[in-house]
Amino acid sequence: MWPYPTMIAHRGGGTVAPENTIAGLAAGLRHGYRAVEFDVMLARDGQAVVLHDPDFGRTVRASGSVTALDAAEIAKLDAGSWFGDAFRGEPVPRFEPFVAYCQAHALWMNVELKPAPGHDEATGRHVAETLRQLFRNEGQSDQLPLLSSFSPAALRAARAAAPEFARGILFRELPPDWEGQARELDVLAVHVHHAGLTAAHARAVKAAGFGLFCYTVNAPERARTLLDWGVDALCTDRIDLLRADFN
Ligand code: G3P
Ligand code: MG
Repeated sequence: MWPYPTMIAHRGGGTVAPENTIAGLAAGLRHGYRAVEFDVMLARDGQAVVLHDPDFGRTVRASGSVTALDAAEIAKLDAGSWFGDAFRGEPVPRFEPFVAYCQAHALWMNVELKPAPGHDEATGRHVAETLRQLFRNEGQSDQLPLLSSFSPAALRAARAAAPEFARGILFRELPPDWEGQARELDVLAVHVHHAGLTAAHARAVKAAGFGLFCYTVNAPERARTLLDWGVDALCTDRIDLLRADFN
């Protein structure tokens, strides 16, 4: 039901390196992580970049937003200096080389479809089609990326474009009809913020036959509790505190 790793570095390298950068992936590898979650959205030209916020400013030293520039222009922007001088000039990654880096280092991927507003379907479709190309020579399903999203439209479009990539539906809190949504979207897993999750929720999700993934768990005691409840996997910002072999 959950054939993937248990411990996953959030946004590349958690809070050890600037989020959603190659430097973050390298930090995860240095800390022994072999699985990563990161966020993807489309630029003006429909090409994908690895980024969490559609508006620049928090992590990207620029004004404006992702849909106002082409991916090649965004890839020249600084996504590192907000984090520290040592990372000045670390670029916003384009999606394809970011995935290639993960493939080269045998890093399993949870790719979060994070559409800029109004671009849900295009994001799901483009990311799934791109992954199909990048993984055309790799057959083992437990090594393929898992696509997750808060956006049902993005998940539907990804499924239509490349159904071989398993999907997860993201919730901030489990809604009453979580199971209906999960079945309708034909997902493998339910992804939920850990803070609102109870042991009863975890039992229900597992009894219904879904994988259960929690974000973003940074305290070892909480991680222990969740895993004891049957949670299959969690992502963490504290790759320096929670070891990749925590479980
Ligand atoms: O995919 C889990 C988690 O990353 C969802 O929240 O805002 O950190 O992308 P966010
Ligand atoms: Mg994310």
